[in-house]
Amino acid sequence: MSTNEKSAIKPPLWVLLELTHKCPLECTYCYNQLDFANTKDGMSKEDWFKVLDETRALGAVQLGISGGEPLLNKDIVEIVRYANDLKFYTNLITSGVGGEKGVLKKLKEAGLKTVQLGIQSHDENTMTLITNNKSAMKDKIAFAKEVKELGMQLIVNTCITRQNIEQVGEIIEFCDELGANYLEIANIQYYGWALENVDALLPSKEQLDKAMEVTNFYREKRKDMKVFFVVPDYYENRPKACMNGWGTTFLTINPDGLALPCNTANTLPIEFPNVKESSVKEIWYESKAFNFFRGDEWMNPTCRSCPEKEKDFGGCRCQAYALTKDMHEADPVCDKSAYHGVVKKIVENANKSDKLPIYRNKQNSLKFIENKTCCS
Ligand code: FES
Repeated sequence: MSTNEKSAIKPPLWVLLELTHKCPLECTYCYNQLDFANTKDGMSKEDWFKVLDETRALGAVQLGISGGEPLLNKDIVEIVRYANDLKFYTNLITSGVGGEKGVLKKLKEAGLKTVQLGIQSHDENTMTLITNNKSAMKDKIAFAKEVKELGMQLIVNTCITRQNIEQVGEIIEFCDELGANYLEIANIQYYGWALENVDALLPSKEQLDKAMEVTNFYREKRKDMKVFFVVPDYYENRPKACMNGWGTTFLTINPDGLALPCNTANTLPIEFPNVKESSVKEIWYESKAFNFFRGDEWMNPTCRSCPEKEKDFGGCRCQAYALTKDMHEADPVCDKSAYHGVVKKIVENANKSDKLPIYRNKQNSLKFIENKTCCS
């Protein structure tokens, strides 16, 4: 990077705290890395306070509290209160399952601003099929009701896969009845467990087009609930501007204290700094990891000479590495990439596969770690 480029680095705006990778659900599409069982809950509440002090001092304002399931971290109320005192705008990203009784009220009193609740279906069987948790449906409905009773905004996020894409209309009606203020129908992106399960999860183009049509129909009818639709990038020809560009806007801290430019960056062969060893300021501006893909010097000639590089920044680094084993490659979603055929092949295989997905849980994670060690 040139000195000019270095001085143009802006502070992080969005900070995401992954308070734990433990989760009572076992969703097949989870983006957490396959070896998440290796990630320890190594951050004390004082460590999280230090991160909040340092990120706020840099100018960050938006704070996501996520996981795993963040409600499983016993310090969550104190962390939210600390963040609120620093004037962060706090958003809880939760499954609504597994929290202590009364925790939501305490979070509201501590200053929590919004709740983003994951609801995968209006139908109990589908919910159990996706989450492998029989009480998920009941717990989520109770949680959504509590959010509304407390007078808070309810944002619902519905992750879409082949298992629920044909229910989009019913899901929209269901979320409307729950009183959702915003609904994001998000076709999943294929990282971590989702990539492992892609053959079982990816919907067909026909299913996708139909779901968009249904969403547009309901958008017209339900003006009081805003509905967003996110398309899976495997059906696109240009990559997404992942994280708005590496190290420009987003900062994630994982349960072990690793500072990452995106949630899955530690799947890349890069050594990431830890907030227990360095200040966030040093990490954000000076660390090798955060400077790795800033600017365009790292790009291959196809991306560097592309007029769209200012828009998509060469696409997603984690996806490039997962699909090509070279993290400097163009994101293979781009049809200018030499590896675009890899994405086409995945889509083709998935469209004719009747494989069943594996669940995201500790046993499967440990199996993955074991196989990786024995075969590498
Ligand atoms: Fe890591 Fe896109 S998810 S750069």
